[in-house]
Amino acid sequence: DAAEKGGYEHFMLKEIHEQPNAVKTTITPRIVNGMPDLSECGLTLEALKNYRKLFIVACGTAMHAGMVGKYVIEKLARTEVTVDIASEFRYRDPIITPEDLVIVVSQSGETADTKAALHLAHDKGAKVLSVVNVKGSSIARESDMVLYTHAGPEISVASTKAFSVQMSVMYLLAFEMAYAKGHIDENECKRLTAKLAEIPDIIEKTMECEKKCKYVSSKLITAQSLLYIGRGLDYALSMEGSLKLKEISYIHSESYAAGELKHGTISLVEDGMPVIGVATQTELLEKTVSNIVEVKSRGAFTIAVCKEGTEFSEGVIDEAIEVPAMEDVLMPMLTVIPLQLIAYYTTVLKGLNVDKPRNLAKSVTVE
Ligand code: G6P
Repeated sequence: DAAEKGGYEHFMLKEIHEQPNAVKTTITPRIVNGMPDLSECGLTLEALKNYRKLFIVACGTAMHAGMVGKYVIEKLARTEVTVDIASEFRYRDPIITPEDLVIVVSQSGETADTKAALHLAHDKGAKVLSVVNVKGSSIARESDMVLYTHAGPEISVASTKAFSVQMSVMYLLAFEMAYAKGHIDENECKRLTAKLAEIPDIIEKTMECEKKCKYVSSKLITAQSLLYIGRGLDYALSMEGSLKLKEISYIHSESYAAGELKHGTISLVEDGMPVIGVATQTELLEKTVSNIVEVKSRGAFTIAVCKEGTEFSEGVIDEAIEVPAMEDVLMPMLTVIPLQLIAYYTTVLKGLNVDKPRNLAKSVTVE
């Protein structure tokens, strides 16, 4: 067991640290002459150019990778993307046509609801592209096209490295589709792809925040409840951070779109309640900070996850966790690191079973 954990105390920590390599192994073979190349699965530039609409369907953490995909694809490829939780998608009679592409995302490739979504897409005449980690799994076998993520086996129930590799595939897809649809030229596509290729090294550098995350976690262990807030891509990451924390530490937490707080949730804020503000998106920074100020003035203990060098006015932030600054669109690849580490250390400090939280299964093969 100790050998399998490669010197780490838990699989989760090992898997967090495997992310630079997992991402590198996933993206490197798919960058040819500086351009993204997903032709291995039969996804041609011509096909990418012609899809009317994309549906991304998944469960849990894989769905959050889909949320990141939606923001990035819509921003760069100017194509409408709908993200669905698979258990909702399968019963809502979605309006899918044969001109659409349904993308299912799954670490295990065996999740029952995600598999049902795939069947539904086929019934409606749409092609299915799957982004799957486990080779030869049911979802991979039944899809029209598969892009395997190369994270290697993920043992810890809380998904970490699978999320990063799923996001990395979303970026390749977004860049290639943006190019295919003529929204970016070859130079810009190469520039973005080169930035993505730098990410594994920068994730490694991001790990330097580990000590700080452990310290911040020591402040969270007595909390009854906490909030994660953010806007845009930071909101998608808030969702993932919140899920990670609650599933293993058993501390109730909610993620909220920062601007929506004042429509209800802010009434929960009382003295000492931790609020984690994810604030990496330059254009939205001022807006998110104004929401952090609102919770601070109601007594919240405020933690910011932000780019290095971000300056806040005096008294707004109790603890800031800085990550290296990349261009906004790629920040989720780095932002996720402290969010995973906070969930991990909070759980360890509470003395709970990090790798096998109660009531949860690694793969949910029944409805
Ligand atoms: C379970 C796991 C989650 C995972 C979800 C989807 O709930 O505990 O970590 O995100 O299933 O799994 P999949 O294998 O389809 O990605």
